Amino acid sequence: MSISEIFDTMDYGSAPESSKEALDWIAGHGRKFDLFVGGKWVKPKSGKWFDSHNPAEGTKLAQIASANDKDVATAVKSARKAQDAWFALGGPDRARHLYALARALQRNSRLLAVLEAMDNGKPVRETRDIDIPLVARHFYHHAGWAQLQEQEFGDFEPMGVIGQIIPWNFPLLMLAWKIAPAIAAGNTVILKPAEYTSLTAICFAEICRDAGLPDGVVNIITGDGSTGEHLVNHPDVDKIAFTGSTDVGRRIRTATAGSDKHLTLELGGKSPFIVFEDADLDSAVEGVVDAIWFNQGQVCCAGSRLLLQEGIADAMIAKLRARMETLRIGDPLDKSIDMGAIVAPVQLKTIEALVKKGCDEGAEMWQPSGTIPKDGCFYPPTLFTNVQPAATIAQEEIFGPVVVSMTFRTPDEAVQMANNTRYGLAASVWSENINLALDVAPKLDCGVVWINSTNQFDAACGFGGNKESGYGREGGYEGMLEVLKPKFHAKLSKCKGHIPAAPSGKSTASLASLDRTAKLYIGGKQARADSGYSQAVYGANGDKLAEVGQGNRKDIRNAVEAARKATAWTKASAHNRAQVLYYMAENLDVRKKEFADRLVATIGIPAAKARSEVDASIRRLFSYGAWADKYESRVHTPPMRGVTLAMKEAVGTIGIACPDRNPLLSMISLAAPAIAMGNRIVLIPSEQNPLSATDFYQIMETSDVPGGTFNIVTGPRDELMQTLAEHDDVKSVWYFGPESGSQKVEAASVGNMKRTWVNHGTTRDWFDIVQGEGREFLRHATQIKNIWIPYGE
Ligand code: NAI
Repeated sequence: MSISEIFDTMDYGSAPESSKEALDWIAGHGRKFDLFVGGKWVKPKSGKWFDSHNPAEGTKLAQIASANDKDVATAVKSARKAQDAWFALGGPDRARHLYALARALQRNSRLLAVLEAMDNGKPVRETRDIDIPLVARHFYHHAGWAQLQEQEFGDFEPMGVIGQIIPWNFPLLMLAWKIAPAIAAGNTVILKPAEYTSLTAICFAEICRDAGLPDGVVNIITGDGSTGEHLVNHPDVDKIAFTGSTDVGRRIRTATAGSDKHLTLELGGKSPFIVFEDADLDSAVEGVVDAIWFNQGQVCCAGSRLLLQEGIADAMIAKLRARMETLRIGDPLDKSIDMGAIVAPVQLKTIEALVKKGCDEGAEMWQPSGTIPKDGCFYPPTLFTNVQPAATIAQEEIFGPVVVSMTFRTPDEAVQMANNTRYGLAASVWSENINLALDVAPKLDCGVVWINSTNQFDAACGFGGNKESGYGREGGYEGMLEVLKPKFHAKLSKCKGHIPAAPSGKSTASLASLDRTAKLYIGGKQARADSGYSQAVYGANGDKLAEVGQGNRKDIRNAVEAARKATAWTKASAHNRAQVLYYMAENLDVRKKEFADRLVATIGIPAAKARSEVDASIRRLFSYGAWADKYESRVHTPPMRGVTLAMKEAVGTIGIACPDRNPLLSMISLAAPAIAMGNRIVLIPSEQNPLSATDFYQIMETSDVPGGTFNIVTGPRDELMQTLAEHDDVKSVWYFGPESGSQKVEAASVGNMKRTWVNHGTTRDWFDIVQGEGREFLRHATQIKNIWIPYGE
């Protein structure tokens, strides 16, 4: 071929990477791998192994042990045994182990890159230049957190034993995201790789052993979903960290409900890639290549929905098609290919079925004219136009190299279309107007926004989603908080259970006050309960004190509706929110005698104690007025020319169930941080002692609290909470009540995968500044969005 022909075709030939070392490594283990438990290779008690294949060639690579429940139990035991000593080693010594692992990973980087490409089918160019360097970076970065743990996380301790389940799309990178922070913080782990891609995890186990990591700190058990299930259900696991499909995430949430296992879920996505008229279209085209054809589109945060502003849509599609013609698909070990193989035949079938459905539903499908290898699991880059926003391919995660495009006219419409999905993982925004991009980014309901860039990751920047993309963040400061727990948690005792006084038959309520049965408080107004029923409230001595409305499902729906509309509160400045909280504190101060008398009557505490509860409630309101503009966002500095803003945003509508203990103070302690951070709330007060809440209506009415910000529904707490936990417009539920209620709330949260914060039947000292106030509350009241902003021309 002449130089001018090469110039015309840009056909630069192949550049194959040798598979010899990787195949030698596999052969050196007899092409058969056991489980890595307690620092040793152990045969599976199941007596079973399964085959792992090279998807590009369809050839068998090795046999992998299949762990059963007994194998999982042995691994958990070994992790438990190792945990105390690992934490006791101290941060600086743990840091040295992580540095050693980072260096060993770098030394083995070529072997790992080739092994990953062979096992998964992804191009070695990506594993060599992206996956493996990021893996090492994660261990270096988290070695640093171990070093600084005492200074930065002195009030925290490790969770204990963490079960980690990862998918096949970034096998070693997901391992690093899970293991590095967990062990840095002093936890020990049992990691289960995906059944299609176990080899690099096994190689990592060998690296841990050779690097002298203490036995039992990292255990690698292989197997399919049933192995994962055993790990999830094991009672001695303190936390499950999962990345994978939303369906399995939902199953894990259901299985762990009420178990007190901490849970982080990084699930699916259908991320928008928004191109505004003033974007640099050539850069945006390269962005689309990275967004949807990186890793064959098998990326949870893939930019799979292309949203184009009408004026540039045709030009952009034409440029994109031209670029697609040049994409090279083939042998993952060829360093000059752009796309490798799909992970497994079953995934290929899923992609084919969804593409067929897209065509059947009337969208226009386009693929470049080049061919793809006949053997092996390959699928061409695919572009759909003329797609309806409600079409299956616009809503379902395809998890393949398929992008669907739609058009919009205005920035508002772009935001609406971008958010029109049950997922909320990531988004890319392309515009040369930084004001526009930064105006749009906060409006996108997702965990990561890349401006004029896409698929950027770094160990210093948290990653994770909203809505059905899961909860929790991995990476950086915020990721460390997901593997640690406040030290005082271990000291919390179980609530004894409240035994209400037997009704005495007497009533201290005047006839006039009984006539004025306390109503509900919805949308800034007192509202009669839909049921038309009220329920009696008895004092500590059994005397009837008053009646309150008996709320039902309909009242909860009305309250959520009111909260949903009260978006002005979320948009209000932190300064304004602080003013309202201070005003509430002042108004409560004016009426403190009345509130203290009420506490004496309802819970029978001495007057001095009642006064101190009211005083503490006033202080708490002032505190959150102070916090409103001081719980600030962070700026991360990943290794790129740019910054990542870790914005603390309101979660949305939060449902809150209050405990019976200290009814006024506990209610304020839960409500105030939620509204201080810009959330709107639907609060269910203590069922036994709701009068502090109903008296509080007047405080709100005189304190300029905008209607719909703070709604109160009295009635059967657990029943009302169930409705809130099932409601799709509620983004998070906090439950402080008996243990059985925590289980029900977590189980009911799976509909829209809302966040939960439940007490598992423990009780806290609401007067205590650490247990009853501060950062733990603020963390639950916010979610972090990482906005990546590159610099330069
Ligand atoms: P998956 O969610 O079934 O598998 C992920 C991991 O979970 C694997 O290690 C698997 O063995 C394990 N697992 C499966 N069932 C389990 C259970 N009941 N309990 C505990 N662990 C369990 O994902 P799969 O089947 O490999 O892919 C199916 C679809 O999921 C894909 O087509 C894609 O749409 C989506 N997916 C999303 C990923 C993401 O990062 N968001 C990653 C992988 C898949």
